[in-house]
Amino acid sequence: MKKFIGGNWKMNLLESQAGEFAKALDKAYEDGVEVVLFPPGLMLKTVKDSVNRLGVGAQNLYFEEKGAYTGEISIGMLEDMGISHSLIGHSERRTVFLEDDVLINSKLKAVMKSRVTPVLCLGEHLGQRKDGLAEATVKGQLVTALDGVESIEGLIIAYEPVWAIGTGMSATPEDAESMAKFIRGEVERLYPGFGKKTRIIYGGSVNGKNIGDISKLENVDGVLVGGASLKLDEFTEIMRYGRD
Ligand code: 13P
Repeated sequence: MKKFIGGNWKMNLLESQAGEFAKALDKAYEDGVEVVLFPPGLMLKTVKDSVNRLGVGAQNLYFEEKGAYTGEISIGMLEDMGISHSLIGHSERRTVFLEDDVLINSKLKAVMKSRVTPVLCLGEHLGQRKDGLAEATVKGQLVTALDGVESIEGLIIAYEPVWAIGTGMSATPEDAESMAKFIRGEVERLYPGFGKKTRIIYGGSVNGKNIGDISKLENVDGVLVGGASLKLDEFTEIMRYGRD
C-alpha cells in the first residue's frame, strides 16, 4: 500500500497562481508515494491540466446527482473532469458550514458507488480530548459516517484532531499512532479484513520538520497537509515521506 500525501489548499491561492504552483510540485515529486492535491473547486481543471504525476481531488462534494442545489458540485461533475478523490467531512465543513454526521453519511454512501475515492476526515475537539472522549468521539463519527455503506474498498480515513489544525500544535507522534491504531481496530471490527487494507492518515500542523517522526509511525499511512501544502519547499520535503 503506497503512503498517501494530500495537500489541502483550503480557500487559498488564485486561479492565476494555481497552475504554476501545481507544475512546480509535480516536478518536485519523487516516485514512491501517492500525492493528491486538493485545490478550491474553481481551480480543479487548471490543476488537473498542470500535473502529470500528482492526483487531483475536490475539497467537498454533494451527494445528489443534479438539480436545484445552489453552490454545490456533484460527484458526476468530478468524475467527468477526471477528479480522482474528494475530502468528505473535513472539520472546517463540520464546524464552519455545520455539516453533520448524517449529511456526511449521505455523501459517503454516494461517493462509494462512484469512481471518486473519498478521504473521510474525523477528529475530536480539544474539550473532548481533555474530557477523555477523543476515542469515543472519533468512533461515533466513524460509525455514523459508515452507516449503510456496504463496501469501503479504497476508502482513506484522515484523523485530524480539530485542535491541531492550523494551530502549529501537531498531535504528538504517540497520540497520532494511538488514534490511528484505534481507528484501524474499529474498521476491522466493522469490515473484517479491511483493517489492514485501509489507509489511515494523520492531519494537523504537519510540516517539513515533524514529517520525519510522523512517517515512522506504524499505523499512520500518510498525511493530510493544510498550511505547509502551500509552500513549495515544505511540501517537497513532505512528499519525500519515509525517505532519509
Ligand atoms: P494544517 O496543516 O494547516 O494544520 O491543516 C490541516 C488540515 O486541515 C488538512 O486538511
